[in-house]
Amino acid sequence: MRRIFVAGNWKMHKTIAEAKELVSGILSGLGQYDNVEAAVCPSYLAVPAVSELCEGTPLKVGAQNVYWEESGAYTAEVAPQMVAEVCDYVIVGHSERRKLFGETDETVNKRLKAALKAGLKVIVCVGETLEENEAGETEKVVTRQMKDGLADISAEQAMDITIAYEPVWAIGTGRAATPEDANHVHKDVIRPLLNAQFGEERGESIRIQYGGSIKPNNAAELFSMSDIDGGLVGGASLDAESFLAIIKAASKVLNG
Ligand code: 13P
Repeated sequence: MRRIFVAGNWKMHKTIAEAKELVSGILSGLGQYDNVEAAVCPSYLAVPAVSELCEGTPLKVGAQNVYWEESGAYTAEVAPQMVAEVCDYVIVGHSERRKLFGETDETVNKRLKAALKAGLKVIVCVGETLEENEAGETEKVVTRQMKDGLADISAEQAMDITIAYEPVWAIGTGRAATPEDANHVHKDVIRPLLNAQFGEERGESIRIQYGGSIKPNNAAELFSMSDIDGGLVGGASLDAESFLAIIKAASKVLNG
């Protein structure tokens, strides 16, 4: 059976009080869409409060990053087991981390391994920049990010991974990839790499989310594509009504 996974990445938005209000709004409308898996990823500080409100509900909670060491003199970093103590998911390799904070495929791989070891489920982000896209390098860049980011991961570990394909030029621009273009990268680039590394049965079952300007009005056509198994939503996840509308679109696609 097909599963759709919609996650909200709140980025550096929402104080603890605002996060609680937002998640309460989402929870109050979520019940009717129980065929969709949904998660929210607040800032570190708001994660415990949001997790508490989500306890016993279907809404999952994640952090937006994690460090790879277990403890030590790493001022301001957060260790995998610290994250695992307060939530179930974590995002690694977001393009904003890559662009603004020096994240590389190698550090993505370190974070991924450490997070999996701590029992977290991990959303691994990949995606090309506008420059790379225009140079026709999408396939090359995404292949490198996938191979190096997922290096040494076993088929068993892969069951706790979701891939998020987020073309950088589509993030926060209001200019989403077309469903056909996004599906092409999912189906013809990412899926074959997953199948090759983890075997076809497992490779086919790993979810590949699309991210980049998903809105209530384009979610259904994106989620209708064969290899778009959900979305990583930024701006539209900051409002309960629009996030719920995206989850509703996913639910409708699943119900045919
Ligand atoms: P937007 O939905 O705001 O384009 O952001 C996408 C994103 O970066 C999610 O991680």
